[in-house]
Amino acid sequence: MRTIVITSGKGGVGKSSVSINIGYALANRGEKVCLIDADFGLKNLDVMMGLENRVIYDLHDVVTNKCTLQQILVKDKRYDSLYLLPACKSLSLEEIDVNYMVQMVDQLQEQFDYILIDSPAGIEKGFQYATGLCKEAIVVVNLDVASLRDADRVIGLLLKQGITELQMLVNKYNSDDINQGRSLSLRDAHEILSIPLLGIVYDDHQMIEANNKGVPVYVDRKSLISLCFDRIAQRLEGIEVPFMKYKKKKLLDKLFR
Ligand SMILES: Nc1ncnc2c1ncn2[C@@H]1O[C@H](COP(=O)(O)OP(=O)(O)OP(=O)(O)O)[C@@H](O)[C@H]1O
Ligand SMILES: [Mg+2]
Repeated sequence: MRTIVITSGKGGVGKSSVSINIGYALANRGEKVCLIDADFGLKNLDVMMGLENRVIYDLHDVVTNKCTLQQILVKDKRYDSLYLLPACKSLSLEEIDVNYMVQMVDQLQEQFDYILIDSPAGIEKGFQYATGLCKEAIVVVNLDVASLRDADRVIGLLLKQGITELQMLVNKYNSDDINQGRSLSLRDAHEILSIPLLGIVYDDHQMIEANNKGVPVYVDRKSLISLCFDRIAQRLEGIEVPFMKYKKKKLLDKLFR
């Protein structure tokens, strides 16, 4: 059983997209996964997973004894072992006593192999609350100066909170941008952050379309991006898999499409 927070320095780098698709990839491996939406952004995980019509209760209802913790969990439409604990819309998560929240996470830990918490970015409200519930973190970055600079700050905050198991996930990876000098490289990211690389996810319009449709991109098992998440899930489980090279992308594209 592991509880992992997915966080970042700046907003919009892809934390929610990454949380959902890692959840899918782990569920596809037979793991029992609970995604906790601890962010207050406009686009919540329920919408991105196409589950918004199935959300009936939220954490506030549990706190006020209107329902049980089990009743707020929403089962995914595609994987029976994947559940969502939706965002709390009626009150700010921080209004819930942190000890109460810790107890709820403890309870969930008995039932799930992985709890993935989609947290707000480091600069936003609620970040420390969400990260305080975990011992492990995935720091999502894009290969731009602002994202890496803010991620470096967030790593400092996480370390201060006692979260020492940190891994970096590079999202929206675009080798053309790297080759043309429009973005930094993986080496730069590693030099700046100096934490292990969990994986890379390509910059792909399919991700945006999937998010808008409420059907996670992972569902398209022929997509290259789905393979990226398979590899990330394997590495999380301690399996050594090579990092995909961009050159292979075109070849793989041809093979799969
Ligand atoms: N690999 C990717 N390729 C292309 N677009 C992506 C990728 N990952 C995420 N996006 C897009 O980037 C935008 C931000 O993604 P997302 O909402 O997941 O980020 P976030 O870090 O959770 O944002 P926030 O800080 O607002 O919560 C969305 O439009 C999403 O579709
Ligand atoms: Mg988000």
